[in-house]
Amino acid sequence: MPAEKPTRILAVSNQKGGVGKTTTAINLGTALAAIGERVLLVDMDPQGNASTGLGVPRETRRITIYDVIVDGRSVDDAAVETAVPGLHIIPADADMSGVEIELSQADRRSYRLRDALALQGSTGKPRYDYVLIDCPPSLNLLTLNAMSAADGVLVPLQCEFFALEGLTQLMKTIDMVRQSLNPALEIQGLVLTMYDRRNALSGQVSADVRQHFGDKVYEAVIPRNVRVSEAPSFGKPVLIYDLKCTGSQAYLRLAKEVVARERHRRAKIAA
Ligand SMILES: Nc1ncnc2c1ncn2[C@@H]1O[C@H](COP(=O)(O)OP(=O)(O)OP(=O)(O)O)[C@@H](O)[C@H]1O
Ligand SMILES: [Mg+2]
Repeated sequence: MPAEKPTRILAVSNQKGGVGKTTTAINLGTALAAIGERVLLVDMDPQGNASTGLGVPRETRRITIYDVIVDGRSVDDAAVETAVPGLHIIPADADMSGVEIELSQADRRSYRLRDALALQGSTGKPRYDYVLIDCPPSLNLLTLNAMSAADGVLVPLQCEFFALEGLTQLMKTIDMVRQSLNPALEIQGLVLTMYDRRNALSGQVSADVRQHFGDKVYEAVIPRNVRVSEAPSFGKPVLIYDLKCTGSQAYLRLAKEVVARERHRRAKIAA
């Protein structure tokens, strides 16, 4: 029997707010599940937008990521099914804003998520192929937990003027995490979001980013698409809300690219 495929843990992160982290976590997660991967989305943002966008109402968020990180509840217990087959989520709630204080004296305070994820599947549930962690737009203990747990950082980048400035900050954070908490942390890839082909600036930002980061930038580009922004208010990923729209199709292309690159990376290591 072939050895089970290891879980790939990706932190969806950018300290800049509103660049499409949550939208990417929800829709890349959905698209990966649609092409047959088992996916867990971890909502690490007290705003809880990923939970809302996937149709998990606040009143049903019984066990949250707070309970996992602070109280040691298991990932297997906390993960709930979504309407998307193959996609589970650990929801978040506003009570997470107390995490910093709760954990101020705790052992391995930056590794709480990593330790919890290491035990996934130990109760007999299947392990995931991908774990996507939706990070908050700030550098706090939650983000550090995400980056300590992750194999790679997936960076959504909005095609606008200050995109590269925000990136400098993120690269410093990643370096700092590598030096202190997680030497193995890689940059998984950068994905351009909210691309507007009628706007010359979008093309310019895309060219600049590709020049700086080369093939770390995914070929799939997520267009600005109103269907993408409407979907969360129906508690649905855009792929369920309107599969044919340009946004859904772009997230499907991204998912295929992520999987193909991952296969390639593993083949290189095995060789
Ligand atoms: N491709 C897109 N087309 C149109 N609107 C989009 C697209 N991607 C994201 N948006 C919208 O942009 C806004 C910000 O997106 P999102 O919440 O995903 O960003 P974020 O980085 O998670 O934000 P935060 O930093 O607050 O967590 C949302 O209103 C979202 O619906
Ligand atoms: Mg968000």
